[in-house]
Amino acid sequence: MKALHTGIAFLPILAKATSLSSYALQNVLSDASPIFGQYSKETNANTEWMKRYPDDTLLVHMNIPGTHDSATWNYSQATQDAMAGITALNQVTVPPPETFRCQDRSLIDMLNSGIRALDLRYAFDPTNTSLIFYHSQALLSEAANLENVLFGFYQWLEDHPSEIIILSLQYEGSTAKYYANDAEVQLALFDALTSPAAHDYFLQTKDELGTLGDARGKIILMRRFDLDQLPSQYTEALPGLHFSPNLWTDNSPDIELVYNTKKNLTAYIEDYYEPQTPTGSNATENIQWKYNATIANIRKAALHYPDSLFWTWASSENTGNVPPDWPRIMAVGNSTDYTPEGGVNQQLIPFLKELKGKRLGIVMFDFFNQPAHLIDTFLDL
Ligand SMILES: *[C@@H]1O[C@H](CO)[C@@H](O)[C@H](O)[C@H]1NC(C)=O
Ligand SMILES: *[C@@H]1O[C@H](CO)[C@@H](O)[C@H](O)[C@H]1NC(C)=O
Ligand SMILES: *[C@@H]1O[C@H](CO)[C@@H](O)[C@H](O)[C@H]1NC(C)=O
Ligand SMILES: *[C@@H]1O[C@H](CO)[C@@H](O)[C@H](O)[C@H]1NC(C)=O
Ligand SMILES: *[C@@H]1O[C@H](CO)[C@@H](O)[C@H](O)[C@H]1NC(C)=O
Ligand SMILES: *[C@@H]1O[C@H](CO)[C@@H](O)[C@H](O)[C@H]1NC(C)=O
Repeated sequence: MKALHTGIAFLPILAKATSLSSYALQNVLSDASPIFGQYSKETNANTEWMKRYPDDTLLVHMNIPGTHDSATWNYSQATQDAMAGITALNQVTVPPPETFRCQDRSLIDMLNSGIRALDLRYAFDPTNTSLIFYHSQALLSEAANLENVLFGFYQWLEDHPSEIIILSLQYEGSTAKYYANDAEVQLALFDALTSPAAHDYFLQTKDELGTLGDARGKIILMRRFDLDQLPSQYTEALPGLHFSPNLWTDNSPDIELVYNTKKNLTAYIEDYYEPQTPTGSNATENIQWKYNATIANIRKAALHYPDSLFWTWASSENTGNVPPDWPRIMAVGNSTDYTPEGGVNQQLIPFLKELKGKRLGIVMFDFFNQPAHLIDTFLDL
C-alpha cells in the first residue's frame, strides 16, 4: 500500500540510468532521499578511512564514530508541518521540532564524512503497512521507509567496499496513540532484514564483532529490539549482535550488557541521555554532568578491557528543564555566555587529544559535524 507516499520530485541520482534495474534503483533511492539524502558518488579524505587499517584488525579495537538518532537531520518546523496529516492519524501531539532534532547532515553525508555507526528508530505508519522512521512522536518522513533506506546503504557499500556500516535498529514507542510493538511490526522488520538483498549486504555472523576484513562491504546489525511476539526461530535466523531493550538500563551512565552469554562477551555502554541534575540547573551544569559520564566511559575504553566492546553515547537532552535543554544546546552550546565552554562536543576535543593513540570504541555523537574537526580528532586523521 503506497498511499502514504508523497510525490517526491524525481532527481537524477546515479550518473545515467542505462538499464531497467538502474531506473528501478533510482526510484528506490529517490524515495529514500528524505532520510538517506541525495545519493551521489563522492570520495573525500574521510570517505574511505577504513582502508588505513589491515584486514585482521579486530573491530572492538577500533575507534568508530557514529551518530545518535541519525534520521532526525532534516526535522524542522517545516517538516513537522508537512507531517501533520500523519501525525493526526497517529493521534499524537508533537512537541517543538528542537526536541527531536539531533543532526544537521544526511545519512550519506555522515557516511562520506567518516561516520560508520548509525542509529535508526522505526515503527509502523498509521496503516500498519510500512516501517518508517520516528523520533518519539515525530515522524521524520513518509516516503523513506526502512527498505528503501537500506538500498541507500547497499549502494554506498558497493561504491566503498573497504568500509563497513554498523546499524543500530530500535523500535520506537510513543509514535501513535495506539502504538504497539506487535507481531506485525516484528514480522515486517524480520522480512526487511532477511530479504535476498539484506542477506547479501548484512554480515551474516552472530553475537560477535569480528575483524574489519570480514566486515568490509557489509552492514553489521546491532539489534536494539526483541522479536518477542514471534517464535524463537525468527530471532535465531537474524544476524548481528543482540542488545535486548530489557538489558539496556534506561538512562544509565554505566551499563554492562552481556551480548554473548556463551563466550561471556560484555559491552560497556554509556547512555546517560538525560542528566538527572537538580531542578533549576542551567545548561552549563547539564552539559557538565553529561560530559563527565561520557568521558568516564571513553576513558575506561582507553584503559581497561582491551578486547571488550565499548559503546558510548555522547548525545543528550534535558527537555523537561526550564528553559529546555534541546539536544543541540547539549551537544554544541548556543554560542552565548549561557554556554561559555560550548557543549559536550567542543569539550571533548581536548579530551580526545589527550587520549591520542588509544582505543576509544564506538562513540555516537549529536551534531557530529560541529565543531568541524571533531571527527578528524576522534579518528586521529
Ligand atoms: C527537508 O524538509 C523540508 C520540509 O519538509 C523539505 O521541503 C525538504 O525537501 C527536505 N529536504 C530533503 C533533502 O529531503
Ligand atoms: C495498527 O496497529 C495498532 C496497534 O496494534 C492498532 O491499534 C491500530 O488499530 C492498527 N491500525 C490499523 C489502521 O489497522
Ligand atoms: C564475564 O566477564 C566479566 C567482565 O569481562 C567478568 O567480570 C565476569 O566475571 C565474567 N563472568 C563469567 C561467568 O565468566
Ligand atoms: C565532573 O568531573 C569533574 C572532574 O572530576 C568534577 O570536578 C566535577 O565536579 C564533575 N561535575 C559534575 C557535575 O559531576
Ligand atoms: C541560549 O540559551 C539560553 C538558555 O536556553 C537562552 O536563554 C538564550 O536565549 C539562548 N541564546 C541564543 C542566542 O540562542
Ligand atoms: C550556571 O550555573 C552555574 C552553577 O550554579 C553558575 O556558576 C553559572 O554562572 C550559571 N550560568 C549562567 C549563564 O547563569
